[in-house]
Amino acid sequence: MKRTITSTVYVFTAVFFMLMSCQQAKSPATVGGLKCEFRENPLGIDRVNPLLQWKINDERRGACQTAYQILVASSLELLEKDKGDVWDSGKTESDKSVHIKYDGSELLSQKDYYWKVRIWDKDGEASQWSETSLWEMGMMDEGDWQAQWIARSEDDPGRSAYMRKEFSLSTDKPLKNALVYVSGLGNYVLYINGEKAGNDLLTPGWTHYPERLEYQVYDVTDLLSAGENALGALLGNMWWSGGLGWKGGNKYSEGPLKFIMQLRLDFEDGSSTVVVSDESWKWTDSPIWEDHIYDGEKYDANLELPGWNNSGFDDSAWSPVKIADYEGKLVGPFAPAMKYQMDIEPVALTEPVAGEYVYDMGQNMVGWAKVKVNAPEGDTIKFRFAELLHEDGTVAQENLRSADATDMIVSNGEEIIWEPKFTYHGFRYVQVSGLKEKPQKGDITGKVIYADQPFVGHFECSNDLINNINENIRWGQRGNFYPAPTDCPQRDERLGWMGDAQIFAPTANFNMYLDQYWTKWMFDITDGQDDEGWVYDVNPPIVVSGPSKPGWGDAVVIIPWMTYRYFGDKRIIKENYDGMKAWVEYMRKESNNDIYVWDEGREGWYGYGDWIAVEPTPGKPIGTAYYFYSTKLLSKMAKIIGKTDDAQMYDDLSGRIAKAYQREYWDPDSLNYPGKTQTANLLPLAFGIVPEGLTDQVVQNLVNDVKEHDVHPTTGFLGTGYILPMLSRYDHHDLAYEMINQTDYPSWGYMIKQGATTIWELWNSDTEPPEGMNSRNHFALGCIGEWIWNTLAGINLCDESPGFKQVIIRPRPAGDLKRAKAEYDTNYGMLSVDWEKSGDTFTLKLVVPPNAKALVDLPDVDESSVVKEGGTEIGTNEIEGISVQEDGKIIAAAGSYIFTVE
Ligand code: BGC
Repeated sequence: MKRTITSTVYVFTAVFFMLMSCQQAKSPATVGGLKCEFRENPLGIDRVNPLLQWKINDERRGACQTAYQILVASSLELLEKDKGDVWDSGKTESDKSVHIKYDGSELLSQKDYYWKVRIWDKDGEASQWSETSLWEMGMMDEGDWQAQWIARSEDDPGRSAYMRKEFSLSTDKPLKNALVYVSGLGNYVLYINGEKAGNDLLTPGWTHYPERLEYQVYDVTDLLSAGENALGALLGNMWWSGGLGWKGGNKYSEGPLKFIMQLRLDFEDGSSTVVVSDESWKWTDSPIWEDHIYDGEKYDANLELPGWNNSGFDDSAWSPVKIADYEGKLVGPFAPAMKYQMDIEPVALTEPVAGEYVYDMGQNMVGWAKVKVNAPEGDTIKFRFAELLHEDGTVAQENLRSADATDMIVSNGEEIIWEPKFTYHGFRYVQVSGLKEKPQKGDITGKVIYADQPFVGHFECSNDLINNINENIRWGQRGNFYPAPTDCPQRDERLGWMGDAQIFAPTANFNMYLDQYWTKWMFDITDGQDDEGWVYDVNPPIVVSGPSKPGWGDAVVIIPWMTYRYFGDKRIIKENYDGMKAWVEYMRKESNNDIYVWDEGREGWYGYGDWIAVEPTPGKPIGTAYYFYSTKLLSKMAKIIGKTDDAQMYDDLSGRIAKAYQREYWDPDSLNYPGKTQTANLLPLAFGIVPEGLTDQVVQNLVNDVKEHDVHPTTGFLGTGYILPMLSRYDHHDLAYEMINQTDYPSWGYMIKQGATTIWELWNSDTEPPEGMNSRNHFALGCIGEWIWNTLAGINLCDESPGFKQVIIRPRPAGDLKRAKAEYDTNYGMLSVDWEKSGDTFTLKLVVPPNAKALVDLPDVDESSVVKEGGTEIGTNEIEGISVQEDGKIIAAAGSYIFTVE
């Protein structure tokens, strides 16, 4: 029987106990959405104190949690009797319902833990117990791994291989549970009796392999049966040995491809055994004769070995594997798995040149194509992927640089339904050649693949262009949230560039729930951190040498900060504190009189600067601007985790840096910063470097420049994140709104007018030569998503109460915008904002989730305004859930509200 938490016994007793607790529970609140380490019922937890969280359902105004009780038991039976033999938190007075650190007795390797929770509501009444949830601990003890790394034993190390082994299960010894722990270098696909284990893709993902590699854990009980069973592994190169970077020149390894697997079998009689990868396995070449992350996968159906991953297959011609090793740490599954997320059907099929068929997916997407092929035996069918078309309608691959992006099938004469395993493509078009007959439009399906983190934010408004921009931003995120946040998904690059990620992180966090994602990426960054404190520009580090440049390396500090702000996670701060501090200390060591200049000795080159800007900003000051920003954030984070001495020290240091910045870079004659560009003024303004008395001047500089450019951005990656927010913050919201509505160059609308379905790398991707650096799917310039959320939806974070525990609702209508609606599934439940402006009336429908609250700052309120909620004037009458602060701002407790301003 498969591991389950709803066995028949359980259902019966659960109902019984639910009825019992129904009688006891007076609160109408219920508790659900239990997660351990951000996942539901996760397997392979590799943390000694995992984090727990839940959500409360309670529609009453003011709904909140005043206390909780967690029970963790070593068996379902005990938990059903309300016995937390492993941990009983007791009634704990607290409103915390996320990031609760497990605090019971020591968790044992590979053991299941069952848990549930109940809460006490706003009236102090207890809820029923939640449903039961489960987590399973990973391989925590040294010596747990009995499996050995195995590899193909012959030359041709990067050639994809099949590996297999059979074993038998006795009919007299019924199997209860089977869990498999599995990893590979490069990627693997594990089959059990012909079925794929789990539905993750591109496993084991990408980490800083020299230090750390993840294994996956799957419950495979249902795939096994009494009698003979077969294990089969398919291996390919991907990030490990395919070659990364320009021309794919950087490899972690030349191979050989290797694999490790341990299958734990638990029997009904209480005994257990393991089946492991060892020298008893055999290998042979797989039908994939070439696989490469950038170049695509080549599959020869004639080399297929039907039944190879089932029992009874004759493997006498296969060779014994050799024993291999891996020197890094093999760790549990921290990264969100890569998964199929949606299918895209082509919108058009053309034949621009005789025998060449071009599919248009209608969307620049990332993943691969699942194809159906009917062709005579021996025919080779090619699928070439591209973002663009040449004028003649054939695919244009020039902007992929050296990436060949071509999948190939050699037909065996039968109908083949196929998709690759060890590559992925960023594409809108697929050109098929080698077919003798015209294919059908339905022969290709686009499989959209990205890291399995839920899209929690949804926004729409009465302005179609802004909706369109927002949709393109989301597609940019879909296409690049792979095991690392990549710059682009199509050319010979696809690296975890830090500058791109830090500037996009706030927007990304509004779209997806990324606590787990950033937690894992921070491992990649700090695993590679140099002893001197510097980090790399891309992480996992490969391809680009260090030390990282200003605005790029600072991601080591900014990412934990943004994760704390959006998800309320303090652990990411604690866990990375030393790494963040080391980076700041590195900059301090390299600075002179508090001025930090990244300088490699190349005259006039101070890092990437405001990368791809229309009007370049001198790079030199950017080093100190970011040195200030990182130091300031470090000071804030030190305070949050109780390092008060550090907090003070870095606060003082940031003060000195700000002064030095002004001394060095502010020109008292022109009253401007070097370059006088938008970005030159934006960074000091946004980071808080500008002395108070000069703020108006700096804002004026910005506004003047914006107007000089007919209200267009001239910023690159770094400035773009702040252009709209700073205009809106400093009373030029109308200009910000005008800017986002532009449809001529340079603007986001311009990309859309040229047919973009994602965010481009360059403002002028259409007119720059296609060769070289010109991707059509780069999320960085999409960093204005944050502004859409903050101002148009009006959803703002509150640093004193992060992770949407308290949220600031401040909608800012502008121009012709009549309506905006946003939903965001927070830690506490759905936050919803829906506002409309009609005539002189502004209406805001607001839903604040249980256990959270909102500070509501309604627009255009003055003494003559009448502000009501649910028809009752605020301030004159008591309204349930609402209180008015001294400054006139409204605090709304959990619940649904309709506010009007007339
Ligand atoms: C990448 C960028 C990255 C940059 C650094 C480019 O090749 O695509 O997004 O941040 O290099 O300069």
